[in-house]
Amino acid sequence: MKKFLEAKGLLILLFALLLLLAACGSADESGSNQEGAGDNTEQTEEENDAEETEGDSEEEESDGQAGEKLVIGFSQVGAESEWRTANTKSIQDAIKDAGHELKFSDAQQKQENQIKAIRSFITQKVDAIVFSPVVETGFETVLQEAKDAGIPVFLADRAVDVEDDSLWVTFLGSDFVEEGRKAGNWLVEEMADEEGPINIVELQGTVGSAPAIDRKQGFEEIISQEDKFEIIKSQTGDFTRAKGKEVMEAFLKSEGDNIDVLYAHNDDMAIGAIQAIEEYGLKPAEDITIIGVDAVKGAFEAMADGKMNVTIECNPLFGPQLVDLIEQHFAGEELDKRIAVEESMYTMDQAEELLPTREY
Ligand code: AHR
Repeated sequence: MKKFLEAKGLLILLFALLLLLAACGSADESGSNQEGAGDNTEQTEEENDAEETEGDSEEEESDGQAGEKLVIGFSQVGAESEWRTANTKSIQDAIKDAGHELKFSDAQQKQENQIKAIRSFITQKVDAIVFSPVVETGFETVLQEAKDAGIPVFLADRAVDVEDDSLWVTFLGSDFVEEGRKAGNWLVEEMADEEGPINIVELQGTVGSAPAIDRKQGFEEIISQEDKFEIIKSQTGDFTRAKGKEVMEAFLKSEGDNIDVLYAHNDDMAIGAIQAIEEYGLKPAEDITIIGVDAVKGAFEAMADGKMNVTIECNPLFGPQLVDLIEQHFAGEELDKRIAVEESMYTMDQAEELLPTREY
């Protein structure tokens, strides 16, 4: 009996020990789990948050490496001219051909549409913004918002007038002042043997736009060197054929045979004006010397038909150069603030030969 009691006591002790061990084990486990769960939940959220931020920044960083696929938001001026159509296609094709994703917005020549588009690109967290401003001023706030969001802005074709040039990376576009000078120099040479007064009417581009301001400035800088030249009328035709025609009709109505020269800030307006001149009963390029800017196909056709005298080239096909610059920036290269597109000038006598090879 004593032995039995001893064995029973040992068994109870053993059982109790086992229970204790099991309880300890499970207490340890559950204890750490509970604690851990609490911590983990918090940590997970924090970590998740951190990961998300990191993930984003990793994405931003990895997008910073050469060869990465970028999401590029492109805010274009509109579709007001042959030039613009060619420019839009060149930039869109270049972005897609390079394997990047394009988000496109057409501002229909309205600044408020561009501001909305840029804000939407910021919300969508694009990697880069390409922006061709309708007008020069009034973009500080939205450009600052893009900068604050860490999104680099590339100015294409037209410049902005902002004090802080850190709001954009680089400006790739034509030298519009120089284009105006070329137009002026051509006229001065062409009219070298003419006595004054030489009466000029001017069709300006969109009011407040860089090409309208600069082309006027460059042209005036040259012709003002000779007293015989005078701009007798100057008004905007908003870079469109329809407006160019309409305003030229008004010029003809008030000045008629008094007009010697038309200087149009783009070919589309010149082409619209040619129609108005013919309808008025005068011969374009004979009775009125016609100067345009852009060198679009339509101008070459008009020159080949003997209806336009000269067009100053403004090359819209810089899409591939622009995408190269964006990629260089993301590869960490320092870019010049101003990169000019090279261009030329074409006269009537070259038109027939060059027309078949014109790309835009
Ligand atoms: O900014 C470039 C100008 O804009 C082109 O000369 C004109 O045709 C266009 O609409």
